[in-house]
Amino acid sequence: MVRPAKISDAEAIRGLVNYYAEQERMLHRSLESIYGSLRDFHVCYRDDRLLGCAAMAISWGELGEIRSLAVDPNMQKKGIGRKLVEHAIAEGKALGLKRIFTLTYEPEFFARFGFEIVDKETLPTKVWRDCLHCPKADACDEIAMILEIE
Ligand SMILES: CC(C)(COP(=O)(O)OP(=O)(O)OC[C@H]1O[C@@H](n2cnc3c(N)ncnc32)[C@H](O)[C@@H]1OP(=O)(O)O)[C@@H](O)C(=O)NCCC(=O)NCCS
Repeated sequence: MVRPAKISDAEAIRGLVNYYAEQERMLHRSLESIYGSLRDFHVCYRDDRLLGCAAMAISWGELGEIRSLAVDPNMQKKGIGRKLVEHAIAEGKALGLKRIFTLTYEPEFFARFGFEIVDKETLPTKVWRDCLHCPKADACDEIAMILEIE
């Protein structure tokens, strides 16, 4: 079941995201930053177990960002990532966004939803505020992708 995140989900979200961050497959999120953006998150749960999470953040103007998409390593390839991305896109549409971007190491996954690779330089400067805290700030190797919403 996919539902909006609750306060009680914050620690589990941090655990899942940082599990992949330790493998350098995602960026670390502090508990503080998760609480601060908790309303952006949707989670997928079964019983009491967090299976996946994703955030749809408003970035600037009509641009949004899918962030912190992660699925439990034992529950991958079961359609959970798809559900979370489709939910995030629908939410972006409902908000009136015209474009959604993501920074990712999984371009083939996002390409399935119509995201296309773009030059990072084409994203507005405002997008880079979080990069100030990233250890890879000066050598970012994530791939920028954009989905144009019709
Ligand atoms: C990337 C990730 C979110 C995918 O989640 P998932 O639940 O395994 O994906 P789904 O089962 O919903 O897959 C949907 C489709 O994409 C395909 N797919 C899954 N992972 C893929 C990948 N890494 N590359 C290309 N295609 C992929 C699936 O085969 C499936 O195809 P189908 O619809 O033809 O059957 C998950 O592997 C993950 O958490 N990875 C680690 C964290 C990460 O890299 N997050 C990405 C943001 S940086």
